[in-house]
Amino acid sequence: MSGRSVSAAHARRNVIITAAIAGLAGLLFGYDTGIIAGALLTIQPEFSLGSFASGMVVGAVPVGAVFGAWFASGRSDRYGRRSLILISAAVFIVGAIGSGLAPDALLLIISRVVIGLAIGVASAVTPVYISEVAPADMRGSLVTFFQLAVTVGILVAYLTGLVFTDVNEGWRWMLGLGAIPAIILALGMLRLPNSPRWLVMTGQTDAAREALERVRPSGPEAIDQEIEEIQGTLGGETGTWKDLLRPAVKAALVVGIGLAILQQITGINTVIYYAPTIIQQAGIGSDSSAILASLGVGAVNVLMTVVALRLLDRTGRRTLLFIGVTGMSLSLFLLGGAFLGSSGTLSSVIAVLSLMVFVSSFAISLGPIFWLLNAEIYPLAVRSKAAAAGTMTNWFFNFLVSLTFLPLIDLLTQSGAFWFYGLVGLVTLWFCWKFVPETKGKSLEQIDEVFERRAAR
Ligand code: BGC
Repeated sequence: MSGRSVSAAHARRNVIITAAIAGLAGLLFGYDTGIIAGALLTIQPEFSLGSFASGMVVGAVPVGAVFGAWFASGRSDRYGRRSLILISAAVFIVGAIGSGLAPDALLLIISRVVIGLAIGVASAVTPVYISEVAPADMRGSLVTFFQLAVTVGILVAYLTGLVFTDVNEGWRWMLGLGAIPAIILALGMLRLPNSPRWLVMTGQTDAAREALERVRPSGPEAIDQEIEEIQGTLGGETGTWKDLLRPAVKAALVVGIGLAILQQITGINTVIYYAPTIIQQAGIGSDSSAILASLGVGAVNVLMTVVALRLLDRTGRRTLLFIGVTGMSLSLFLLGGAFLGSSGTLSSVIAVLSLMVFVSSFAISLGPIFWLLNAEIYPLAVRSKAAAAGTMTNWFFNFLVSLTFLPLIDLLTQSGAFWFYGLVGLVTLWFCWKFVPETKGKSLEQIDEVFERRAAR
């Protein structure tokens, strides 16, 4: 035992820096999902892409991400969370440069799948890494750094899109520049330690103690106690896929997988990917005002995620879910209503306002809270597999919603489509009330007990 301990302020600073660096992985996620709408406009004429090929360019990332999350599932236990984040940064650099230089549509699609693989790994592992380093009373805020980086990535992508729209072959810059945050992520991760919980799980107790000493102000006894508590819940070895069927794990998976699906099928990405189109359809004529309004959507998403970050560990996850999901449903009903009458100033004002309320409500609820719960509710022995299952589901439904949004409008009209998402919002409200436990302030080990008790009932 080294017995070294750091001051409270020092430990706090270390843990915040750790979460901020790892959270950068979210920037890759946000940038690359946000950039494609703008990039596609100039890729389409250059490679003469029809709607199917365009769909492939867009869909390649979420499909790649499903496989990336699957790839990460077991490997995150074998090689550690930190190594996996480093691998994802390296793969991302290859994919970003490859897509920026792609000579034809096929290579572009392949590079986009590679980017998707990297994002899948990063989104399965990063929230888990942060949740395993964080002290219980800061975990909500710290894991939300990941979601904050996602929203910043989307906003930066919108702005980059604007800058390069009129540049010859500007899309190459838009896609290639994604390599920069990946390089920063790789350099930052090289300086960070492994997750203390992963170290305990793999029997490296001394290294775990050292990793904890950097981020906990408590003395050696408290750190030993934390290690014992982690060991106590481990029950031996790393879990297998079959262990996901244990009643307590199943109860947690209902929450994780349920929120993974609901986060997507309440329609957030119809707004993130199609905001300018929606705004134009609601009656704002010019391209520039539609783009400005979508920049507004991106900015509100960032700002309200900061609000969530400050509230999650105080107000709690459940309260924010109730408030946010109610706001999402109401604004979707209003947005649907804006398309009913003839298009004019009033309906476009209502449309823009309801889009803003919708995104704000998502940003304080399902946005950060899905990724947070998916990282904190599973027992350590199966955490990486279960979190990967939630992540795979989320990306699969992301893909499905973006594919079905335009056909859904053909089938139900715009009003019908948004009312449909609004109804799904009401189901989400019921789901949160019935299944989502409050995890605020609990250690990861205490959260296990919540699900053990639930399974025993
Ligand atoms: C979701 C993404 C979405 C983003 C918007 C994330 O939590 O998983 O699908 O694009 O939030 O901020």
